[in-house]
Amino acid sequence: MNIQHKTAGFDLPHLQEQDKLHRLLSSTLLKKGGDKGDKGDKGDGGDKEANSSSSPTSPPPWDATHFNLHNVEIFTDATANEQAEILQLCSCGLLEESYFIEKAGMGYMAKMVLLAETTEERMLYALFCGDEASHFDQICRFLSTPEPVANNLFLRFLEDLIESQDKTVLLFVLQVVLEGWGLSHYRSLAKNCVDKDMGLMLHSFLQDESRHHATGVTLFDRIDVTSSSQNTIIETLASFLQMVQVGPQSVVAAIEKVKGDLSRQQKVKIFAELDTETHSGSRLKLLRSLMSHPNAEIILQQLDQRGSFHPFPPEKCV
Ligand SMILES: [Fe+2]
Ligand SMILES: [Fe+2]
Repeated sequence: MNIQHKTAGFDLPHLQEQDKLHRLLSSTLLKKGGDKGDKGDKGDGGDKEANSSSSPTSPPPWDATHFNLHNVEIFTDATANEQAEILQLCSCGLLEESYFIEKAGMGYMAKMVLLAETTEERMLYALFCGDEASHFDQICRFLSTPEPVANNLFLRFLEDLIESQDKTVLLFVLQVVLEGWGLSHYRSLAKNCVDKDMGLMLHSFLQDESRHHATGVTLFDRIDVTSSSQNTIIETLASFLQMVQVGPQSVVAAIEKVKGDLSRQQKVKIFAELDTETHSGSRLKLLRSLMSHPNAEIILQQLDQRGSFHPFPPEKCV
C-alpha cells in the first residue's frame, strides 16, 4: 500500500472482479448517471474480456477512410483479413489512448483540486474529476486490458507533464491546448465511429470536455505568465508539436505489424499516400489556433520561429 504512483496513474492496477469496491463504484457511477449497465460485458472497470471492439465478428469501430488508408496501395492490395487486422490495430490504438488519457485526467483534475485558489475553482475541479472517472468507466466497457504505455511517446509525454509543479504550465499545455485538442479529437472519433454505442458514448463526452477546456482558458486569462513558465511551455509544446509534425506513425506501425518489415522507401510511399502533410497540417493549424491567446503571444511567436507548425514531408516522417 506504500507504493508511490505517478499522478497520471498509468500503472494503477485494477481490483479483482469480485472485490466489494466494485459494487460501491457501480452504484456511485449510477447515481452520477454514468453507469448505464451492461453493454454486453461487465462494465465494471475490472478484468475485462470480450467486447465490441475486440470481438472477431464485429467490424472495427473505425473504417479505412477514417485513417486515410483507402488511399494506401499496400492496404488496398492486402487480403480482407489483413485489412481487418490493420484496422483493428489502429482502432484499438485509439481506444487505448483514450483509456490512458481519461485515467491521466482523473489524476490531473485531482491535482488541480489541491492547487485551486478559490472555493469555486476547487468545486469545478472536484466535479471535473468525476467527469473523467465517468469517461474512464465508459471507455473500459469497450476495451480489454490495454497495452503498457512504454512505447507510446505521447502518453509518456503526458505522464511527465502532469508531474509538473508549475500551475501555469499545467493550465496552458494541458487544459487550454490538450483538452481543446481532445475535444476536437473526440468529435471526429464520434462522427466517424461505425459502432453506434461507442459513437454515442464519445459524443456524450463533448460537453464535459468543452467545459474542461473553457475553464482552462478562463483561468489562464487571469495569470501573469513568468518568463520561466513561458520557457517551459515553449519547450514542452515544441516537443508535443513534433509528435504531430511526424504524421500518423501509429498507422504505419500497424501496417508493418501485419504486413511485415517495411523498407524506408515503402514507408515514405505510405506516408505520401496517407497525405501526411495535409493531415498533420490541419492538426497543426488547429493546435496553433488553440494556442492563440493574449497571454501567449510570445509563446506562439517562438514556436512559429522554430517552424513547429510546419508538417514534415513524407521523407522526414521516417
Ligand atoms: Fe474526459
Ligand atoms: Fe477532460
